[in-house]
Amino acid sequence: IKRIGVLTSGGDAPGMNAAIRATVRAGFYYNLEMYGIYRGYEGMINNDIKKLESKNIAHILERGGTFLKSARSAEFRTAEGRKKAYENLQKHGIDALVVIGGDGSLTGAHLFFQEFGIPAIGLPGTIDNDLSGTDSTIGFDTACNTAIQAIDKIRDTATSHDRLFFVEVMGRDAGFIAINAGIGSAAAATLIPEKKMPIERLVERLKARTKALKQSNIVIVAEGGKSGGAAEIASKIKKLLPYYDIKVTILGHLQRGGSPSSFDRVLASKLGVAAVEGLMQGKYDVMAGIINNKIVFTPITKAIVDDKEVDEDDFRIAKILST
Ligand code: F6P
Repeated sequence: IKRIGVLTSGGDAPGMNAAIRATVRAGFYYNLEMYGIYRGYEGMINNDIKKLESKNIAHILERGGTFLKSARSAEFRTAEGRKKAYENLQKHGIDALVVIGGDGSLTGAHLFFQEFGIPAIGLPGTIDNDLSGTDSTIGFDTACNTAIQAIDKIRDTATSHDRLFFVEVMGRDAGFIAINAGIGSAAAATLIPEKKMPIERLVERLKARTKALKQSNIVIVAEGGKSGGAAEIASKIKKLLPYYDIKVTILGHLQRGGSPSSFDRVLASKLGVAAVEGLMQGKYDVMAGIINNKIVFTPITKAIVDDKEVDEDDFRIAKILST
């Protein structure tokens, strides 16, 4: 391996820059040439590819977003799109890839390896934490911190006005951000896609809290919940408990931004080095992750398919602490 192309794809996540920087630095350390592919697979198709120098990655570790930019490429899902992308890589002599992104991005790397034999290693870059093969994805910790800080602020209004807030957090189909935000912000209840919570049970919980003279109520709703988002749940509760002053806040993309936490910086840095060393050792079509503080390489097909579950204990703990 002589020339590695690095790209970020899918939703941006805090720590992506730290992962790019570590990958590129590790490449330089091993005397490899490093190329930045801009806007994910779109850049590969449009030949938006530039050789990186040390100065390109100076002072990016602490910055949110991704300086390589990101995109969700529809064209890369087509065989013609991938052929164009392959031809562009050949023009630059790029013989290996590090793909930083979520399950869609890693699926792209897997397909590309299957079709053209381009060695690729994926790094788990998503706030959702919904990839197997790693305890935490890059960006998840920062997103949880951001959500909790925002909920703390909402708590002030909830308490001052005796209001009931429904706060919707991101996570796509997974409840990892929600469960952490629920435990970390003393939520009255946390609704996640993985567990059904009948509306009657939520009503009981809220009534019990009123009886216990709780000063404020914040219910966390994961965006991918089967019973709907925060607005839907709130309107159902309004009908059943009309005496509550109810407000809804959707935290949205604010959870994806900001400077990465120390945890995400360290995780991203370790994984960037692991990606380069993994490629040098012939580990292809895998995702690098950290489990129990050890670097592990998991086949991409396994990392994306084996849906990681929200820990039963976490769910139990959230319930105990909200009653
Ligand atoms: O995968 C990250 C994520 O932020 C999800 O939590 C969310 O469902 C989705 O991306 C939003 O995507 P977009 O930024 O394209 O609206």
